[in-house]
Amino acid sequence: MRILILGSGAREHAIALALAREAAGHDLLVAPGNAGIAAVARTVPVDPSDAPAVASLALDEAVDLVVVGPEAPLIAGVADAVRERGIPVFGPDRAAARLEGSKAFAKRIMADAGVPTGAATDVLTAADLDAALDAGGAPYVVKADGLAAGKGVLVTEDRDAARAHALSWLERGPVLVERFLGGREVSLFFVSDGERAVALSPAQDYKRIGDGDTGGNTGGMGAFSPLPWLDDAFGGEAAFVDHVRTAIAEPVLLRLAAEGCPFLGLLYCGLVVEGRDVRVIEFNARFGDPETQVVLPRLTTPLSELLVAAATGTLDTVRAPEVSTDGAVGVVLASEGYPGDPVLGRPIEGIDDAEALDGVHVVHAATERAGGELLAAGGRVLTGAFDLDVH
Ligand code: GLY
Repeated sequence: MRILILGSGAREHAIALALAREAAGHDLLVAPGNAGIAAVARTVPVDPSDAPAVASLALDEAVDLVVVGPEAPLIAGVADAVRERGIPVFGPDRAAARLEGSKAFAKRIMADAGVPTGAATDVLTAADLDAALDAGGAPYVVKADGLAAGKGVLVTEDRDAARAHALSWLERGPVLVERFLGGREVSLFFVSDGERAVALSPAQDYKRIGDGDTGGNTGGMGAFSPLPWLDDAFGGEAAFVDHVRTAIAEPVLLRLAAEGCPFLGLLYCGLVVEGRDVRVIEFNARFGDPETQVVLPRLTTPLSELLVAAATGTLDTVRAPEVSTDGAVGVVLASEGYPGDPVLGRPIEGIDDAEALDGVHVVHAATERAGGELLAAGGRVLTGAFDLDVH
């Protein structure tokens, strides 16, 4: 198959690596890709959020499938534009991608579908904000309603910090003040064809910047999969996954389909688990980063089967995904200054040495080549992933 992947991060590199190792031998194109992706796929300098340009590229290259990596193209309607040309797309239309693009929309869908989540108040003014902060009390959870590149959420005991964060986002749009949910976080990916939901293995990611899980929030600094602690709470991963599918994923998919916006793509359930209680913190409409870097290497059945079946509404015809019993851990290497203003252009060395170690591979997030050197080109630069024998 000829497959076009949109995006330029470690998630897209991990997707490309998973597709490249399939026996079928796909022809992979990535727009725009990065220096690491260029080693396994043809990279094309097309803006992944430019819907007409992506649709033209997909047509000109006669691709069999488009896989949308990041959220921005989904919110920009790129999947709609490609689907309108009759090309299968793994990624929801703009209307269904609102599940990630608007936290207020996601809360409304969850309320209508009877899905457990934290109570939240929509805030549009400073007066609403003060009332919501005082009604909920500490710890304060403040979230920007729209896309915020992992920077829209603040959880704090400090009311002044919560208020300042909310006011800075209120200048750009609505804000949610949410009840704090305690527990352990789990990211669970469901591949969906609009009706059915097929789960991959759960992962846990760590979003704080500092060692020891301290400091400010980021898009994610590391992840691991599977989660042996689920055995104590649920008697195993399969029971947990079944619970989330029936209590959360399927009701949400049903609700979206009933509203005329079926979700074809990756439903990322960001969950908090306390005992046997599972609640939704957030949904995303695409694979998570860095969770993808530890979930996909464990998949032993072809990823392309799932992506095509989801894009064509035929998930009932494919075998259930199988995963290795080995675990995986991923650690993000970021530029100095991230998640604020990262220092760009620093040379990167040592990747070959790292990959010479047993069970280690390095996935590129923001890298570029200049004058024969590999340079850091963004905040999150690489993910180092390690296989782990967890049994
Ligand atoms: N790791 C969090 C995210 O992908 O949104």
